[in-house]
Amino acid sequence: MHDFTARILAQRVVFGAGALRHLAREIEALGAQRALVLCTPEQRGQAERVASLLGERAAGIFDRAVMHVPMETAREAREVANGSKADCAVAIGGGSTTGLGKAIALDSGLPIIAVPTTYAGSEMTPIYGITEAGLKKTGKDARVLPRSVIYDPELSRSLPVGLSVTSGINAIAHAAEGLYAVDANPIMSLMAEEGIAALGRALPGIRRDAQDIEARSDALYGAWLCGSVLGNVGMALHHKLCHTLGGSFNLPHAEVHTVVLPHALAYNATSAPQAMRRIERALRAPEGTTAAQAVFNLARDNGAPVALKDIGMQAADLDRACDIALQTPYPNPRPLERAAIRALLQNAFEGVRPD
Ligand SMILES: NC(=O)c1ccc[n+]([C@@H]2O[C@H](COP(=O)([O-])OP(=O)(O)OC[C@H]3O[C@@H](n4cnc5c(N)ncnc54)[C@H](O)[C@@H]3O)[C@@H](O)[C@H]2O)c1
Repeated sequence: MHDFTARILAQRVVFGAGALRHLAREIEALGAQRALVLCTPEQRGQAERVASLLGERAAGIFDRAVMHVPMETAREAREVANGSKADCAVAIGGGSTTGLGKAIALDSGLPIIAVPTTYAGSEMTPIYGITEAGLKKTGKDARVLPRSVIYDPELSRSLPVGLSVTSGINAIAHAAEGLYAVDANPIMSLMAEEGIAALGRALPGIRRDAQDIEARSDALYGAWLCGSVLGNVGMALHHKLCHTLGGSFNLPHAEVHTVVLPHALAYNATSAPQAMRRIERALRAPEGTTAAQAVFNLARDNGAPVALKDIGMQAADLDRACDIALQTPYPNPRPLERAAIRALLQNAFEGVRPD
């Protein structure tokens, strides 16, 4: 057992099929009266359902959330929030919508209630990101942590199967890196292993039947655990690479995580053997199958992309991606070696199964 210092973030979490019905109660628990509802254009229908559930407590709908929170959108949403006299916001959607809520909270301290409909896990973290002039700036601030989170698996039934699988593996990535984090602790490691196991069970079930509420519940439960790990301990090489590839080369978030994770695990395997054993156990990897291979198989067998070249990456950009990822030092179990990381990117580009 390593020495550790654990500080667990405090939030209310309400979980269960149909849990959205508790929304008014959660608003009252915050001492708030009027909620601005946030969503993407694609989820306007779900936001309207929320607004009608709230009746006169609804201060309006802002439906322009997009990936990576552009500064202009954040400014517009902040103005709408001010003008609507809302004293809280309800963010219904994935990481993009939660991220917009965080951008408002960062500016005004407006309390956020998150209703996650993907498995990205942003609702459990004090990490925010805002993109200005093509550069995504991220930071940590306790004010942006949603005060209350309603996990209702019914709402994730409409998440397309492809995005469900990649979003689930995005969640697994938080837990996997949490297991070898420089500030890992035993509670977060328990949550990480349980979260990976829940998603490992759930994703094939969702692939078979996207409406399967048991599988949807398992996946959202796993997302909660994995998101908590992301919020409470530091991440390493995998998250740095994905941030670089997503931010500088505009690759889709969940897909990038899905493609890169097996290769990042293979890179760290010999430096974090205990973490690898726990991932293998959680994914019920057959004898002789490594953690990296088990994650690769989970993606491939459930129809997810496994190669960067298939999700918009250009071979000519791999050197630059490697340079950007190495620009600032950060903790990682295995020291950052340029040649090995360049080889990792090449393998991820081509989609080879790690050996
Ligand atoms: N700050 C953090 O801690 C943190 C953590 C994870 C992700 N993120 C950020 O979140 C963003 C990615 O989030 P994401 O992967 O959840 O994707 P997303 O929020 O962009 O959602 C992807 C698409 O799926 C749609 N969608 C979501 N749920 C749906 C549902 N149930 N039914 C139908 N459609 C649905 C959305 O409307 C959107 O069109 C990135 O910008 C990433 O950086 C931040």
